[in-house]
Amino acid sequence: MSFSAQILKPSAQSYKIARDALENGGIVAIPTETVYGLAANATSESAIEKIYKAKNRPMNNPLIVHVGSKFKTVRALVDKGWVAPEVLHTPLEKTANALMLSCWPGPLTMVLPKGPKLPAMVSAGLNTIGFRMPNHTCFLTLLDSIDYPLAAPSANRSNSISPTTADHVAKEIGDAIPFILDGGSCNVGVESTIIKILENGKAVVLRVGGLPLSQLKQYIDINDKLISEPKVLLAPGMQKTHYAPKTPLVLLTAIFDYEDLYRFLNQLEKPTKRLGILALNSLLQEGCVQLPAAITQSYSITTHDLAKGDHEGVSVARDLYGAMRSLDESDLDVILVDTCPSKEGLWAAINDRLLRASTNIADQ
Ligand code: TXA
Ligand code: MG
Repeated sequence: MSFSAQILKPSAQSYKIARDALENGGIVAIPTETVYGLAANATSESAIEKIYKAKNRPMNNPLIVHVGSKFKTVRALVDKGWVAPEVLHTPLEKTANALMLSCWPGPLTMVLPKGPKLPAMVSAGLNTIGFRMPNHTCFLTLLDSIDYPLAAPSANRSNSISPTTADHVAKEIGDAIPFILDGGSCNVGVESTIIKILENGKAVVLRVGGLPLSQLKQYIDINDKLISEPKVLLAPGMQKTHYAPKTPLVLLTAIFDYEDLYRFLNQLEKPTKRLGILALNSLLQEGCVQLPAAITQSYSITTHDLAKGDHEGVSVARDLYGAMRSLDESDLDVILVDTCPSKEGLWAAINDRLLRASTNIADQ
């Protein structure tokens, strides 16, 4: 696919180009430690509108606002008019300050009451806004050289896989944006953990992500202040289908009976008899012997092996989206995904993204 975006390696000159573009109300793709973001001036409605257009994102899906290293307290955000002043001297302020101090810069987004100086479009009309201080030199250098925050969703078309390299961004959206700042591969690889801080100082998890809940537990009492199973859909990122490749992706955990898989493969319109395997655990790594011979004999199998005894899921998270993209580009009938070996560390986020990316073959 051809694209027109210019890919800029970090340098004083490229920061200036990016800053000038942002200053003029433009959009620039910038790396964060989680995934690449598509950034624009969060105080400008016309700039924010360009993000929604480039991504083809529904206008009811709010954006995360990224702030620079001066903004590590609720007071600093209130003083700018980005967070509502009513939160000062409340349990909410106390919890948010504690988390900012210990987890920022980093993969934690905190949803806080919206202040008057940010336009309604950034939060899609909600009276709250998600704030995050990204832990990436490129993003922080830019943020620290401007006096407005940057709204930035992941730099992919809506519902597609988030990009973790400049090349992914170029392929995804390079025809719709002028510049991509190339800061290498993102070293966390999955999007930030999102929590909503409530008035009473308790927090609700809206999206599991790059900051493991076990780390959050060190700062807020998980039994008392963290409710990990929200009852209603609070963030559109919680939609069932999200982060999905174009090739059907089927979880091994969802296959109770290989008959389901045969039936699914047989009803595909143009089967090329090519099966992809995303190996995360030892099961498939030990060979496709686990699969029925009828499949291994009639299908050519492409395996992407991420299973390297990664207990915390750190390297799997980092490489997950790249592996999904590469399998998606391999002209496969279906991608079969191994089970996650654990629910700890980053495995919770990996499992969540795989579930959202997957096709429920029982429904087909
Ligand atoms: O790691 C990340 O969070 C990346 C990088 C670029 O920072 N950003 C990211 O943005 O993943 P995006 O737009 O792809 O996902 C943000 C999610 C969406 O599901 C959105 O609905 C939710 O955050 N969100 C944003 N503001 C919210 C709010 N006020 N209340 C509830 N959910 C919110
Ligand atoms: Mg996204």
